[in-house]
Amino acid sequence: MKNKDHQQLPLRSDYRGILLAGGNGHRLYPLTAAINKHLLPVYDKPMIYYSLSVLMLAGIRTIEIITTRESLPSFKQLLGDGSHIGLTLSYRCQEQPGGLAEAFLLSEDFIQGAPVALMLGDNLLYGNGLTDRLVQATSALSGATIFSYPVHDPSRFGVVELASNGDILSLEEKPQTPRSHLAVVGLYFYDEQVVELAKQLQRSPRGELEITDLNQKYHEQGNLSCQTLGRGFTWLDAGTHDSLLEASNLVQTVQNRQGLKIACLEEIAYLKRFISKNELLTLMKNLPTCEQKYLHERLQEEAHRVD
Ligand code: DAU
Repeated sequence: MKNKDHQQLPLRSDYRGILLAGGNGHRLYPLTAAINKHLLPVYDKPMIYYSLSVLMLAGIRTIEIITTRESLPSFKQLLGDGSHIGLTLSYRCQEQPGGLAEAFLLSEDFIQGAPVALMLGDNLLYGNGLTDRLVQATSALSGATIFSYPVHDPSRFGVVELASNGDILSLEEKPQTPRSHLAVVGLYFYDEQVVELAKQLQRSPRGELEITDLNQKYHEQGNLSCQTLGRGFTWLDAGTHDSLLEASNLVQTVQNRQGLKIACLEEIAYLKRFISKNELLTLMKNLPTCEQKYLHERLQEEAHRVD
């Protein structure tokens, strides 16, 4: 465990995080007929672990999970109040999939005027230096930050067009003729204006409050920046059968090769000093033997490094 590296990074206590885990999961039918998409396995963990781990790596500890009414009990059973991993988790119901930007209206009293990061529960983001990029985004004093990632099929996503100096030229939601091959990743950092700007949005023809329209508002103010995640990163949106399988295969390959887990929440909570070593050791007593063994190995590795 590389505790030292993480300790040097600033932790923003005022930042809020929202995890979106609602929607109808139609594209994964029949897998999602009886189970919320974000609870489906991506190799050895529920899908939601991967997006939650990204918010944790960003240093965010106060997080609201938005999901459907029928799925709320399952998420509570899975993650509880989050205190075991040093988080404060709350839950919010979204009755209908009214769009990603609706999150800011639903969670207004949770946000309480603070800056907020929105992460889509079906996105998996992984790569060297990710933590630094995330913490950098939370350090911005004003405006919004989005991330882009080159893909071969940009029409499936929000698409951003960048000038050679990195300035944003245009933003479009699922364009038929994309102006670039840069998809907008499902992770967004916003300043204190976000709720007020979200209230100004009109519903799109498909009846949703579109995240791209919200980003467009920041762009029109000259307050939107975009960080491109290059070859060192992997970004997957596990919302289709193919991408779900690809995500599982990726996690399996990386974990088996390195012996290190992606999105082990207990490990990240300790790395980020959300919990102490004693709290981790207590927590481990309730975990299955293989998880205990993994975490003991990480602690031993850390002890050797400190020696
Ligand atoms: O994955 C990145 C893409 O996510 C972005 O590039 C697009 O700009 C953005 O619109 C979004 O596109 P999708 O078509 O993937 O969005 P989808 O409707 O699949 O929803 C994304 C996640 O948010 C999914 O985990 C379900 C959840 N969701 C969605 C809606 C519309 C909700 O929780 N509530 C909702 O109302």
